[in-house]
Formats: sequence, structure tokens, C-alpha cells
Amino acid sequence: MNQAFCKITKKKINRVINFGKMPIANGFLKKKDFKNEFFFNLSVSFSEKLSLLQLDDHPSPKKMFHTHYPFYTSSSNHMKMHFKQYSDWAKKKFLKKNKSKIVEIGSNDGTFLMNFNQNQFDVLGFEPSKNVSDLAKINGINSLNRFFNRKNLSECEGFIGKTDVIFGANVVCHIPNLAEFIKTADLLLNDNGKIIFEEPYLGSMYNKTSYDQIYDEHIFIFSITSIKKIFDLFDFELIDAIQQKTHGGSMRYVLQRKRSRVVNKKIRSMLENEKRKHLDSIEGALRFKKNCELSKEKLLEKIYKIKKQKKQICGYGATSKSTTILNYCDIGPNLIDCIFDTTPDKIGKFSPGKHIPIIDHKYFKRKFYDYSFLFAWNHRKEIEKKEKKYLKNGGKWITHL
Ligand code: SAH
Ligand code: TYD
Repeated sequence: MNQAFCKITKKKINRVINFGKMPIANGFLKKKDFKNEFFFNLSVSFSEKLSLLQLDDHPSPKKMFHTHYPFYTSSSNHMKMHFKQYSDWAKKKFLKKNKSKIVEIGSNDGTFLMNFNQNQFDVLGFEPSKNVSDLAKINGINSLNRFFNRKNLSECEGFIGKTDVIFGANVVCHIPNLAEFIKTADLLLNDNGKIIFEEPYLGSMYNKTSYDQIYDEHIFIFSITSIKKIFDLFDFELIDAIQQKTHGGSMRYVLQRKRSRVVNKKIRSMLENEKRKHLDSIEGALRFKKNCELSKEKLLEKIYKIKKQKKQICGYGATSKSTTILNYCDIGPNLIDCIFDTTPDKIGKFSPGKHIPIIDHKYFKRKFYDYSFLFAWNHRKEIEKKEKKYLKNGGKWITHL
């Protein structure tokens, strides 16, 4: 494989893990499209300078975010509740004045922005995927069907230099050009403006060996250290970091232009803690690589043992994360019969790369599978509550974790 380069500094960096040939993680497809399926090589490198774990290669954003992006924030009730709490927290802490201007990037179907009363807030979402952006509009949200970059600011001049907070969730790690993201934010924010976003956390991924967080859309897996170092290059200061339970462990970051004197004192000890856990150096990444290899071995052992007993396995939740597990571990319909899911855009199609059929979740109750691979493990509580009877009937949940 060629040399890897840091996406921000453009300097040579060390490649850590190669997950091999991968399709688009959210590229659920019909049988007729199997022969034209797109693949790329999924590998990860680590920049010691920025303490940053990144993908070396990925499909272009337009290939991933388009007219039929099949992820809807509202597909989880727990996430809807989480976004209500996120908005309550932000209103109390940062949005006290009347008619605050707020922007969300990656606003998807509008789930987060719907929590802001339009009589009290000026609201704008940037959402490049047309289907979900249209749904947000139906939900009454001012959603601009555009990528967040300087070129597209001409369409929202009223927000330039006047925005109080730019929000995001599970989106900043999707943006290959972070310099462009920060420069765009800088143009929009007013003097005291803040950037607040939450993303899957490197520390949680290492702890759980949840390597399925690594797929085409997740170009970076951030830590407090890497966020501090990246934004520092653009004169922004990390003023707070707050751990979140969502998506298997996330971190919410609050940033402001430098010279603000309001940095939370906890940040220092949080950075020290990351150092102790080797989140800042390649050592942590190399340990993670070993754990991924062990995890793959153990998972295949577990699955082959079940199959030897002539038991049947289905999948639950056709997540984008599942694409990494299935393709990295080479698990196809010979081992997992089908995957149940609630998303109309996925049902009736096949999983990317391995072509396991995706079935409407309502049939999960009708046919008994001895084992269910919980690909949506991050929604475990919500799903186990919904599927109490499955355990009662002797069914067993399994995961790669
Ligand atoms: N924030 C939502 C959606 C996350 S999925 C949530 O947490 O549930 C990521 C979303 O970001 C997708 O809807 C995708 O279309 C959008 N997105 C990807 N790149 C973007 C960019 N450069 N600017 C704005 N939105 C982007
Ligand atoms: P999520 O982990 O949020 O997505 P991703 O890994 O793609 O970022 O899982 C969302 C998927 O899980 C989506 O396809 C819907 C499905 N799902 C169910 O089928 N049932 C459920 O109860 C929940 C919460 C999700």
C-alpha cells in the first residue's frame, strides 16, 4: 500500500490497520446492482502530531450523501430524546437571548432543530442528502440542501457573522476537509459564537474494540486531544468536553475563538487521562489493531460453533457499522440468513458487499431465530425493551463486542 498522509497537515503518517476491501457502508442495494457495486480499501492511519486516527481513503462525499441517503435520525426514539436533552442543555447554557441564530450541520430529518421554537430562534440546517433534507422541510425546518462550506454561504447571508452557535452531531467526523469546515464556521459565528458538536469517541472505541465505528463516512475518530490540537491550528480553543452515552460512547466538544477565558478546568485532567490511556500516541492505536484481530477471530469462532450446532442466526439493525463487521470478517448469507430493520429505504434490498437480505423488522416476531446478531448494539436498551418476548422464547442476542 502507498504511504499515508495526514489529511490536515499533509505530512507522512503511519498506517495502523487495514480492514481490506469495503463497499459504501450505507450502500444497501438491489440484486440488479450487484455487478456495479463500488469498493475501496478501508485502512486507518494515526498522526502523532495531531493524535488523530483517520481513514486513508474514502469515497467522495457526493457518493455517500445524495438523494437517497438511508439514515434517519428519527429511527431511534432514544436518540430523539437525546436530541431534546441536547437542545435543553444548549438553550440554558448558551442561548439565553431572544432570537438567537443557530445553525446545525448534518441536520438530517430535522430531529434536533425541531426542538427550537421558531418564534424564539432563527434556525438553519445544512443537509446535503436531499431525501432527509426534504423531510426536515416537511417538518417545518429551514433546511438548506447543501454541504457546509464557504461556497454555499451565499445562500444564507443573514447568518454570516451573526450566528450564536453552530451545532453538529455525528457529522464533523464525516467532513474530509476540516480546515474548510472551521473556516466556514469562523465566517458564520459572531464575536462570542460557539461550535458545539458530538462525535463517536476514540476512547470508547478502544475500550470496546468497536472497530465497526470505522467505515467510509467516519473519516476521523476524534479524542479530546485531537480536537484540541486541530482547532488550535485555526485559533479556536476547546472550552469544554462532555462525555455522552450515545452511539456506544461519544464526546461533546465546545469550541470558541481563542482569547475566551472560560475554559473548563476539567479539560486538563481529561487530557492527562487520555495520555495515560495512550489515546494521544500510536501505542494506543497499535493495541487497538491487535484487539481488532483478536475480536475477528473470536467472532468467527463463535459463529462457526453456532452453525455447527445447526442453529440459525439473523441480524438485527442494518446499521452502517455492520458493513465493516460483515466485510472485514467475511460473513455472508451462508452464516447470517437476513437482517431485520425498520428503515423503508433498506427493506427489500441487500447489505453492501456481502449481500445479506434486509427484511422488515415486523417479521422478526414471526420467525424464530436461535441467535440474533445485534448490529445496532448502541441501541441495545431500546431494542431489548421492544423485543422482550424474544429472550423469553429462548432467543439469544450476540454481538462482536
Ligand atoms: N446529525 C444527525 C445525522 C447524522 S448522519 C444525527 O446525529 O443523527 C450525518 C449527516 O450529515 C447526514 O445526514 C449527511 O447527509 C450529513 N452531512 C455529511 N457531510 C456533510 C457536510 N459536509 N455538511 C453538512 N452535512 C453533512
Ligand atoms: P445506528 O446505530 O443509529 O446507525 P449507523 O450505524 O447506521 O450509524 O442504527 C440505525 C439502524 O438501526 C437503522 O437502520 C434502523 C435500525 N434500527 C432498527 O431496526 N430498530 C430499532 O429499534 C432501532 C433503534 C434501530
